[in-house]
Amino acid sequence: MTGMMRILRLSAQPTLENLTLTEEAAPHPGPGEVLVRVRATSLNYHDYLVVAGFIPQPAGRVPMSDGAGEIVALGEGVAGFSVGDRVMGAFFPNWVDGAPTEENNAAISGETIDGFAAEHVAVPAHSLCPMPRGWSFAEAATLPCAGLTAWRGLCVVGQVQPGATVLLPGSGGLAVFMLQIAKALGLQVIMISSSDDKLDRLKALGADHGINYRTVPDWPAAVRHLTKGLGVDLVLDIGGQSTFARSVAACRMGGKLLVVGSTSNAAPELPLRDVVMRHIQVRGMAVGSVSQLADLVAFVEANGMRPLIDSSFGLDRLGDAFRYQLSGQHMGKIVVDL
Ligand SMILES: NC(=O)c1ccc[n+]([C@@H]2O[C@H](COP(=O)([O-])OP(=O)(O)OC[C@H]3O[C@@H](n4cnc5c(N)ncnc54)[C@H](OP(=O)(O)O)[C@@H]3O)[C@@H](O)[C@H]2O)c1
Repeated sequence: MTGMMRILRLSAQPTLENLTLTEEAAPHPGPGEVLVRVRATSLNYHDYLVVAGFIPQPAGRVPMSDGAGEIVALGEGVAGFSVGDRVMGAFFPNWVDGAPTEENNAAISGETIDGFAAEHVAVPAHSLCPMPRGWSFAEAATLPCAGLTAWRGLCVVGQVQPGATVLLPGSGGLAVFMLQIAKALGLQVIMISSSDDKLDRLKALGADHGINYRTVPDWPAAVRHLTKGLGVDLVLDIGGQSTFARSVAACRMGGKLLVVGSTSNAAPELPLRDVVMRHIQVRGMAVGSVSQLADLVAFVEANGMRPLIDSSFGLDRLGDAFRYQLSGQHMGKIVVDL
């Protein structure tokens, strides 16, 4: 018996100031569904865009794409899971495996369908993945979006080989995961951050070089200096207008530029001549499939990796958690315990 639960539903015009919890009856799992007692979620920049109203939603949407918890009930016809299993949800619950399609990418947890800001969720069994062995719920809640994007970006889409050099922006959830995975893969890593203190901490985590993008605005020149004038094999771009042209300039001839988001508001300038004449492979990507999440679980277990958790908040302080994320003080992941 699950009874009542706490849940966060967005208003028609959500802001960080009106994120309030309510109580309602816990759902029942339908056919093919599993009822999960959610124990943790984690903050991604995408969640901020939803809870602050930049990705408009109908009133009542439950935000947060990440979730980890334990199974408390099985719906009719569910096989392969048991009550008590510790599981993670998926960013794209219907992208089970294979290539992304319009159909399997249509449902996005915490955006086009309800997410994990609730004590209980009823979700399709096919969207769930067992947590890494020995991980806490908070640790597991960092994997479905940031962890999977980092792993897929390097291993599946980027297909970087040992010894290659990658350039990673920032020190947030995605960047720190990519650093950890890149070092486990034997890559050289150059990181850019707005803070010398964070760069020191990133080096302590394994980064080979750090450049402060505030004090060194021409960071592509610094990257070329560190790479014998060549540029790097792969650049991750998260900044859009503020970074795109410079990310292209930091790429080697024929290098890869992975575009995963834009932390700046305006559209980027497109340095077409540079992209064309230097054969840059520009590629967009979003998170990954449930089976790739399972591959990531095998990877982190084999490499003994653990996520870097900066801080944790209660669900009743979700607005404070996002304000803290926006302040840029964090390094790695911010989690929310339920
Ligand atoms: N497409 C996907 O599948 C996917 C998945 C996850 C994330 N993302 C995207 O990746 C980005 C980061 O997400 P997150 O969840 O890791 O956010 P986060 O934890 O809030 O981190 C944001 C980071 O951005 C860095 N940053 C801001 N402006 C920058 C600039 N001009 N140059 C370099 N770095 C800059 C900051 O680094 P410093 O504080 O060190 O300066 C900060 O650490 C967002 O754009 C998000 O939408 C995309």
